[in-house]
Parts: sequence; C-alpha cells; structure tokens
Amino acid sequence: MNIQTNTQTQGQKPKIFVARAIFPEALAKLEQSFEVHSNQADEIFTPEQLQKALSGVAGALVTGSERIDSAALANAKDLKIVANISVGYNNFDVPAITAAGVMASNTPDVLTDTTADFGFALLMATARRITESEHWVRNGHWDKWSIVNNPLGMDLHHSTIGIIGMGRIGQGIAKRALGFGMNVIYHNRSRLSEADEQSCGASYVSKEELLRTADHVVLVLPYSAESHHTIGAKEIALMKPSATLVNIARGGIVDDLALAQALKEKRIFAAGLDVFEGEPKVNPELLKLSNVVLAPHIASATEKTRRAMVDLAIANLRAALDGKKPPSLINVEVFKP
Ligand code: 8YV
Repeated sequence: MNIQTNTQTQGQKPKIFVARAIFPEALAKLEQSFEVHSNQADEIFTPEQLQKALSGVAGALVTGSERIDSAALANAKDLKIVANISVGYNNFDVPAITAAGVMASNTPDVLTDTTADFGFALLMATARRITESEHWVRNGHWDKWSIVNNPLGMDLHHSTIGIIGMGRIGQGIAKRALGFGMNVIYHNRSRLSEADEQSCGASYVSKEELLRTADHVVLVLPYSAESHHTIGAKEIALMKPSATLVNIARGGIVDDLALAQALKEKRIFAAGLDVFEGEPKVNPELLKLSNVVLAPHIASATEKTRRAMVDLAIANLRAALDGKKPPSLINVEVFKP
C-alpha cells in the first residue's frame, strides 16, 4: 500500500483519504485545506488496506473500485462522508454507511450527456461493426472488398430502440435516437410522466415486449440485487436474431456467459459492452468473439466530465466537513444541520 501524505500540514488540518488517482490540480487544491492521504499510485486497495486507510480520516473520495460496507467502516470512527466519484453507487452498502452515521454522496447530472453520447457511440459501433471493420483493414483484407464481402451491419435509422432504465441517461439516449428517426420504446421500474415521455418521444412497454420488438436494446438501469441478471438466457431468447444489445449500466445486469453463448451461436446479431461481471476481468468467452465491441468502462470518460465529477465529489466532501448539506447527498437522513 503506497499512500502519499502532504506531511508539512500533518496534524493541523482535517485528514482526508483519496482512494484513487485524481487530477493533480484538484489534489493540490485539496492539500490547501486538508491533510491528504492519497493513492496517486492508483493501485486498487484490498478490503484490509481500505479499512486501514479509512481509519482516522474525516472524509474520503472513492470510486466504484472501493466497496464501502460495514467491514470497510469498522475503524472509521472519525468519518463524516464517503464521496463517490461516480453516479452509480452499487459499491456502497448504503444501510451500513447510514448505520455508521456517515454521509454518502454521488455525482449525478454532470455526466449525463457524456454518458448518453457514449451509449450512442457504442450502439453505432456495435450495429455497424466498426471495431471489426477496423481489424479487417489492419489485417489487410481491404483488397477483398465487394458489395457482399464486407462486415455488413444493421441500420439504426428508422429502427426501434428499446431502452431499459429510463433515468437521466436513458432519456438522453432516447433524445439522441429521435435525431436518427428511431422509434423509441422503454421499460423502467416506474413509468415517466406524460410530459417526460413526450419530450423523449418514448412509449412505455413491458420488458418482454421491449425484448421481442426492439432492434437495439440499450441497458442503462442501476445495479441492485433486483436488477442482477436482468438479461440472461431467457431474456436473450426473446430478442430478434437481428438485434443488438448494449450494456453501459453495470456488470451483473447481464449474464455475460449466457450472452457469450448467444453471440457465439448468432442468436442475436451483436453486443456492445462497457461494463462486465467481475471487471476489470472480462469473461474469456467474450474475448473470443468478433460480434462484440468491448470498452473498459469509459462511458463518462471525457476530460471535461471526469474533472466535473471530481469537482462535484470534492464539493460534497467539503460541504460535509463544513457542516453543510452536500449537494448530492444520498442518505439525507444522516445530515444534521
Ligand atoms: C465511473 C460510472 O467512471 O458514474 C458511474 O456510475 O459508472 C462511471 O462514470 C465509474 O463508476 C468510476 O467510479
């Protein structure tokens, strides 16, 4: 474990822990106000290392790679806030964090458009076989070009997109789909208001109807015990053989092995995955296939957005340590003004 500390301020300022590397300017600003223990070496901590790192600090900036549960908090007696640099917070055991009297925050809104852009990019790459085509060029196959002998894809324009999970990012994808003349259907735990449905031109359908009728299925729902394997063998069997599946939600929403099997047997056309079960590991069966586009969890990865996420997480941390309500507090019941 390699933790860096701005030792010149040791003892004079509140201690905070930064669990992964962040932008140097953001770190330097934090060091003006806090005694910062940071992991700029960017190794993923073991649960034991994380427990140790949280002991004695008043605030922590963490990411999806840190599981914050009662074990992680066992010695965190001074901790007031865990600020996630992420909108999804399935790495948080919120009841355990709340029971420990610690505030938990995330980074909504600042990444909505960037993530929706990426969802669309991954969908296009998947349907039009862009990475496969690149390999075709790199492997010197271009001289075999013909009307029929190319990686032939599926159209997006005027097809039906089915979005599962119609929060801010799902709605962003729907609005982009309208620009392609697509028919937008969606499924969500709760139906949108009529005004929201109208603004993204989307019709609510059951999950089964969506899977049966969509040409392109895009997953944007949060991960929870209930949403585990929302898409497994049974659901894939409902999809059209010409359909594509895109997962920018979380690993575990899709049964990756069942998906690999279906892609291998060409039971669906192709898949685009930004998130994986057990990432950063990728199921080896997926790695063998050419009809899947793989990305390393980069949906929010533009410089501007990642900076905005870090800034919002820091604003949450600073507010909590100043006795103010963090702007995107998850467990509001912990805040005592
Ligand atoms: C993060 C994400 O990059 O915000 C989220 O929910 O999945 C990504 O934007 C990732 O979780 C890092 O914490």
